[in-house]
Amino acid sequence: MFKLFGSSKIAAADLSFLGVDMHSHLLPGLDDGLKTLDQTISFMQQLQAMGYQKFICTPHILSDMHPNTPETILPKLDLVRNELAKQSINIQVEAAAEYMIDLEFEQLIESGKQLLSFGPNNYVLIEMSYMAESPNFEKVIFNLQMKGLKPIFAHPERYTYFHGKFSQYERLIDLGCVLQVNLLSLSGYYGKEVKKAAELLFKKNMVSFLGTDMHHDKHLSMLKELAVKKDFLSLVSKAELLNKTLLS
Ligand SMILES: [Fe+2]
Repeated sequence: MFKLFGSSKIAAADLSFLGVDMHSHLLPGLDDGLKTLDQTISFMQQLQAMGYQKFICTPHILSDMHPNTPETILPKLDLVRNELAKQSINIQVEAAAEYMIDLEFEQLIESGKQLLSFGPNNYVLIEMSYMAESPNFEKVIFNLQMKGLKPIFAHPERYTYFHGKFSQYERLIDLGCVLQVNLLSLSGYYGKEVKKAAELLFKKNMVSFLGTDMHHDKHLSMLKELAVKKDFLSLVSKAELLNKTLLS
């Protein structure tokens, strides 16, 4: 009789060594991520099946394009938590933000208004444009720390203007940031050069967090493929990642 799957077992995607995802666009209808509450619940369940226990969702805050505030983000967190409870799904969810380093963010820090931070070290997730570095990034990193906040620099491997200038990554750490690499950077999803930069950061033991940066279906299916790859697992298993320190 025809044997459909043969004798070899298909490995299950297991990211339980991470436990917590601290960079995603899973909250519905806030940015260029997921659009509906149903999608949010479905993605969270599929990620839970891969070993995640907790999601710290980080919608973009980016001037006119994604003008989010705690007032737009926190009600969506309530909505998701209520739906999970209604369906008796046991997943921990928190919300913060992914702040674009621009003039508005610099002014927001100076204004003393609430910033969405998370974790035991009051982490704040920050990013720059993929086109050019933010001229005020050093000032912003300094000012965040003056407020008792610890900056997590999102996906530094994706800034092509840093490629070939390894000292830029060292500079971010010297300034007081910890680095968060995107899981899909290690799959080649964003290109060969990004993959190379991500691998180098791992080899130099400079990565503190791995995040999904999940926006849509393609990201989820690519993540499922990546999570069973042996070379990926052997690279990241040697790193001293802090994701699990965010489990409360
Ligand atoms: Fe993101």
